[in-house]
Amino acid sequence: ERARLSSYNSSSPGLAQRLPSCIIIGVRKCGTRALLEFLNLHPDIVTAEDEIHFFNDDERYRMGLDWYRRRMPHSLSHQITIEKTPGYFISPIAPSRVHRMNSSIKLIVLLRHPTIRTVSDYTQIYFNKLYKNETLDAFEDIAIEKETGGVNTRYKAVQISMYHQHFRNWLEVFPRHQIHVVDGDRLITDPVSEIEQIEDFLGISHRVTYNILYYNSTRGFYCMKVNSTYERCLGASKGRKHPDIEDSVIRKLNRFFTPHNKQLFDLLHRRFRWT
Ligand code: A3P
Repeated sequence: ERARLSSYNSSSPGLAQRLPSCIIIGVRKCGTRALLEFLNLHPDIVTAEDEIHFFNDDERYRMGLDWYRRRMPHSLSHQITIEKTPGYFISPIAPSRVHRMNSSIKLIVLLRHPTIRTVSDYTQIYFNKLYKNETLDAFEDIAIEKETGGVNTRYKAVQISMYHQHFRNWLEVFPRHQIHVVDGDRLITDPVSEIEQIEDFLGISHRVTYNILYYNSTRGFYCMKVNSTYERCLGASKGRKHPDIEDSVIRKLNRFFTPHNKQLFDLLHRRFRWT
């Protein structure tokens, strides 16, 4: 980003901070950072580095749209500004607020196998706590209710993976064609094919190719050739090894999510490996 901006003179005609015309609204742990960084390689896209949490946070929302705009990167008039805050997806108030800003905005949602996403969510919290010298109960003890032996539906990571419940809030406000759904599992194994679909959705040319993304076998993920001398992978907090979870618990979660996945399919008319 910085390298790209430095090639512009700050007095370039049209260089300004603009409101996003596309937002990646979620879902947390489905590859949102990787997608944002990959899209940032496109010459027609600029991305906000930080998650702004504007539409899901009352205090920030009260700061107003100009405050939000000033959090955006500088762009030229033909470029698309993209922000990502995965917290928007599960916020019941965010859809109407986003709509009020721009009713024709384009939205991107990444989805991933709901059980894997739940474990990934747990893993992230586990490490956040570890850095603070705190501990977290075993996944099995949090995700499964002791009394009933069933899935703990009060566990936030489980709630987030019940995608259709949150998706409905967005579809009450935005037409289906304004929301592009990315297969987060596929983003890991074949990112360019997912990105090509996004480039089509945004109406821009296919520029993020396997010339600039390459598979890094040490990392086990695709990384970026930012320029001829500089290659970059995502930070160590992305693509962590998940804890080994008892098979019976994984099966229980998969069974639990099956009817929810079916409802998601009915809503989106889109199949995933897990629907
Ligand atoms: P895990 O850490 O559970 O493997 P988010 O950025 O939304 O928090 O998503 C994090 C997830 O992005 C990681 O989950 C990882 O699997 C996935 N991911 C997809 N592409 C990646 C890439 N190229 N490098 C690292 N992680 C990637």
